Amino acid sequence: MCGIVGYIGTQQAGPVLLEGLGRLEHRGYDSAGLAVLGPGANPALRTVKKAGRVRDLREGLPKRFSGKVGIGHTRWATHGPANDVNAHPHTDAKGDVAVVHNGIIDNAAALRHRLAREGVDLVSDTDTEVLAHLVALSSADTLEGRVSEALAFVEGTYGLAVMHADFPDRIVVARNGSPLIIGVGDKEMHIASDLAALVRYTTTVAHLEDGEIATVTAGGFTTYRSDLSHTDRPTTSLDLDLSAYDPVGEEGGYMQREILDQPAAAERVLRGRLDERFGTAHLGGLNMDARETRAIRRVKILGCGSAYYVGQMGASLIEELARIPADAEAASEFRYRDPVIEHDTLYVAVSQSGETIDTLLAVQEIRRKGGRVIGLVNVVGSAIARACDGGIYLHAGPEVAVASTKALTTMYLGFALLALQLGRTRDLSIADGKRLIAGLQALPGQIEEVLTLDERLATIATRLAEADSLFFIGRVRGYPVAREGAQKFKEITYRHAEAYQTSELKHGPLALISADVPTVALVPDDELTDRNVAALHEIQARGGPLVVLTHAGVDLGDVECERIDLPRSERELDPILMAIALQLLALHAATTLGLDVDKPRNLAKSVTVE
Ligand code: G6P
Repeated sequence: MCGIVGYIGTQQAGPVLLEGLGRLEHRGYDSAGLAVLGPGANPALRTVKKAGRVRDLREGLPKRFSGKVGIGHTRWATHGPANDVNAHPHTDAKGDVAVVHNGIIDNAAALRHRLAREGVDLVSDTDTEVLAHLVALSSADTLEGRVSEALAFVEGTYGLAVMHADFPDRIVVARNGSPLIIGVGDKEMHIASDLAALVRYTTTVAHLEDGEIATVTAGGFTTYRSDLSHTDRPTTSLDLDLSAYDPVGEEGGYMQREILDQPAAAERVLRGRLDERFGTAHLGGLNMDARETRAIRRVKILGCGSAYYVGQMGASLIEELARIPADAEAASEFRYRDPVIEHDTLYVAVSQSGETIDTLLAVQEIRRKGGRVIGLVNVVGSAIARACDGGIYLHAGPEVAVASTKALTTMYLGFALLALQLGRTRDLSIADGKRLIAGLQALPGQIEEVLTLDERLATIATRLAEADSLFFIGRVRGYPVAREGAQKFKEITYRHAEAYQTSELKHGPLALISADVPTVALVPDDELTDRNVAALHEIQARGGPLVVLTHAGVDLGDVECERIDLPRSERELDPILMAIALQLLALHAATTLGLDVDKPRNLAKSVTVE
């Protein structure tokens, strides 16, 4: 999604901003730009923007691009194609105002008409450009006043930063639905839409709230409501493993590093939360007592992308262990079907970034209707975490790669903890609770074992990468894993990968099976093994190549396939080990194809526009 950076202080802004943009580079974008206020008494605003990578922008910068105040942007196109003109920053006709914006101005068409009628010449196809003109047309005395006046015309979502040649000592920022963070340095201040862009400089930050405007000068910041009455926005100190952001040289990129961090991430999410004596979980952040927990009649999980698929895995865990009806739904669809909100349903929002707008809006819809929502969120203090009634922080550490890996694993374990606690306030026996705890404690070691299969998975991936189209199949617990596996494969290899319930194969997709269409099948050792093996025979009979993820000892009969035996865990926890093996398949298929796994085309790490 679009990324925003800003700097005001004693250093040259250009290099600092380029460094920040570089840190956002792995999160998806199609063009980038900078605006810097030149030195001197009457500073001129200079803007450079380019379609393509930060590298292209850096190479395109003029020799003299000095100034100690600046803003920058990486764009993920929503209005108009990715070209130089549509890239941010956008300026007014005189070039005095520069704006970078993340979000969508819903009434941009109406505002463009109005501005055109007033004789303003709009040069880009974007919604953002109207903001620059609206700020320029305002006659308020202060820049914050001008921004506030401009925003009064705007309907939609934004995180934005504005500079003005007449107000060279400040950058004004505002937030409504898209993240905006201010980083406090020593005689300098940073602005970013994502922590990744500023943690190198400071770990003291303030997160703007929706509806807030802030003035940022080299010496500090002041926050206001939209009517410019003051607000109190405290700073927080981040406790983060900053090495996660260090550049990676290997071809597997951040994604591989994050896959390898999964045993440690699993330990982090479980730490201090397992109660061996009573066979249950401690989840203080839920803010619910046992009586409230017992009153829950249904669980509804909401998330997007991989978070949605892991939500489906989590729903299975909750139904199995706690015997509470549970299901997951794409958060992006939820509020548009005018959902019935029940007060004895526990709603669970799941999100790595905590900023995905569809998930945030679903949370707001539930709360507006009086429902109780908890969050399974990785980023501490993020919008979704703040909007929920309570929750479970995932402690996955920073996840940089677009394709979610370690966050997904911690989400799964977060659901296991939740299912355990819900189960133990109901009919889950202490013996089963203890069995599951032992299973969870063994899991980091089992993840290590899956990671040792890397070479074998890489060899298989090389073959899979030759296919234009693949199926991923699984049943019951395995089906959401197949969905997640197909998602990972398609998003980084650009191959068509489709997930199906193994049981549904013969109701349609079997028509597509041929020697050119491989199937990756999940066949755990469970109550459905025989049925799964029967399906493998049906695929084999039609000449379809097979990769089978299973357990040692499972009898696949005379099925010819690439067989991978995964370590055995408690059967409820099998899905996550399978999901990790599928991450490695996708990673290696993408690197075999020479693709940059950390920069999948058209995708963004956190999607902050609807
Ligand atoms: C984007 C990313 C996915 C991610 C999804 C949800 O689509 O590309 O990898 O799963 O957003 O993100 P969240 O931060 O809410 O987990």
